[in-house]
Amino acid sequence: MCGIVGYVGSEAALGVLVDGLHRLEYRGYDSAGVAVVGDGAIEIEKCAGKVGDLASRVDDSGIAARAATLGIGHTRWATHGAPTGINAHPHSDCTGRIAIVHNGIIENHRSLAAALRERGHDLKSATDSELLAHLLEEGLSEGRSLSEAALEVLGEVEGSVAMVTIDRDDPGRLVAVRRDSPLLVGIGSDSAVVASDIPAILEHTRRVVVMSDGQVAEVGPGEITVFASDGAKVAVEPKEINWDLQSPEKAGYPDFMLKEIHEQPSAIRDTIRGRFEDGKLRLDEVHGDEGFLRNINKIVVVACGTSFHAGMVAKYAIEHWARIPVEIDLASEFRYRDPVLDDKALVVAVSQSGETADTVAACRYAKSLGARVVAVCNVVDSSMAREADAVLYTRAGPEVGVAATKTFTAQMAAMELLALYLAQVRESLSSHEIGEIATELGRIPGLVDANLESWSEQAKRASQSVGRSKDFFFLGRGVGYPVAMEGALKLKEISYLHAEGYAAGEMKHGPIALVEPGVVVVVIATSGHVKAKVLSNMQEMKARGATVLVIANDGDDAAIEEADFAFTVPEVSEMLSPLIDVVPCQLFAYEIALSRGLDVDKPRNLAKTVTVE
Ligand code: G6P
Repeated sequence: MCGIVGYVGSEAALGVLVDGLHRLEYRGYDSAGVAVVGDGAIEIEKCAGKVGDLASRVDDSGIAARAATLGIGHTRWATHGAPTGINAHPHSDCTGRIAIVHNGIIENHRSLAAALRERGHDLKSATDSELLAHLLEEGLSEGRSLSEAALEVLGEVEGSVAMVTIDRDDPGRLVAVRRDSPLLVGIGSDSAVVASDIPAILEHTRRVVVMSDGQVAEVGPGEITVFASDGAKVAVEPKEINWDLQSPEKAGYPDFMLKEIHEQPSAIRDTIRGRFEDGKLRLDEVHGDEGFLRNINKIVVVACGTSFHAGMVAKYAIEHWARIPVEIDLASEFRYRDPVLDDKALVVAVSQSGETADTVAACRYAKSLGARVVAVCNVVDSSMAREADAVLYTRAGPEVGVAATKTFTAQMAAMELLALYLAQVRESLSSHEIGEIATELGRIPGLVDANLESWSEQAKRASQSVGRSKDFFFLGRGVGYPVAMEGALKLKEISYLHAEGYAAGEMKHGPIALVEPGVVVVVIATSGHVKAKVLSNMQEMKARGATVLVIANDGDDAAIEEADFAFTVPEVSEMLSPLIDVVPCQLFAYEIALSRGLDVDKPRNLAKTVTVE
């Protein structure tokens, strides 16, 4: 995974690199490093910790070549090798002539490492990435140029590679290589920035070349030469990026997570804005060919993490309203299970970032089987937005907190709109019914807004009473099930406590064996056609000594009185209830994490965007 950046130009490279790494930290933050080409030598500074730790070291120390104008940087999310200083990138070859940064996974690293050791190379780290430096070293020693050597290395390694490399003996350029992990090159008038993502480039230039798989680029100040995998030169035309970076601020909140939880009303509002007008849903981005939408034989939703839970809600909504069979699959499973798809299938790929490697790969695979792909994502121009046949953007604004909150509610709102749109096209609901649901959806932001403060108070009290427990179950049925899954995920992501989301009816088939005094069970029991059954499941937990927290509708005394603690939420129609019910779960996780003194914005071991399989 990881974020990589490279600079060549007339400015001091160090500042550009550290600034770029700060902007890419969402891709990983367990260790970081930079390398610059100084006076006839490569200088490397790297350490375990976040980019801020690296920045202090760079300021205090270390690197003598402060005016160097060529360099590379990396912020890491460990795959092979612990997050230590030695394993941090950049990595160098045996001679110290070159340094590389890498984003991806080298699948045949064992055999390559063994062969390199046999040929006398001294591998210092436990990473797969370091091999690249040694393989390049061999190519150079045989008289190839750095880009020729890079092309050859790409043929030797299996797996995903985005790599930028510098050569002590050629301080005027970088070489960049891309396969399966993203890499972009910003071309300024007398500089160039290579990076995993646009935010690290935009400050320097808006002209960007998106490298394609299998390509190698020689990048100099203001210039780029691209080679295809057969070594032939490829003409490339930079594209103009016409959007601006919004620099997210905490706006008075103690952290981004709380701010983003509070931004959910506007995230939902902005996502639905303009998409239901004059009694009709208008999803201009998706409509394409209504004939196709009328004849879809099935929909497959693919996603990872929190986005998968939004996809689960979509399954309930699409099947209920549009009467189209929906499968949902984890993107990491989808393409390896031999799915049955044809040109009548619609694949909906849900992803906040639009860069998750598994979901991007799932899109490509679905297209190769002839299916149409709609991406639901939050980042304009992301890889998935480019791959898909159509994009339904969530408009949640940039999300900084690693544990997704506002993008989740925005995704659910977008998917509910998609479900209603399909119902409109296929006439499975009357326009009156669609109008009523869409109008109610429009009221949800106001309801969330009106309740945020009281849920915060309830979450503080609940965390004081159960925050020391070690085991949590979140239970729900119907659309309460994805809410339970997401509630459990939030808690484990930011509080590092064991939490499981379960379909409430499934507890009796095994997990109930774990329930005893001290276990906390959070039950999603808002109104819906399965509420009575959820309440029976809640009794089963109580009977076995669990402490029960319920999420129930205001005034639902039967549910509230049976529980040890209640979060009360306004009643809305069943299909829309996840948009409300998940918010107290987010606040509950937040308060518990805070009470444990944890960094809610950057939880350990996680990354905002996961660009490895
Ligand atoms: C990472 C993040 C999760 C996110 C998942 C999917 O694991 O930490 O918060 O849900 O990736 O990301 P996506 O960008 O595809 O929604």
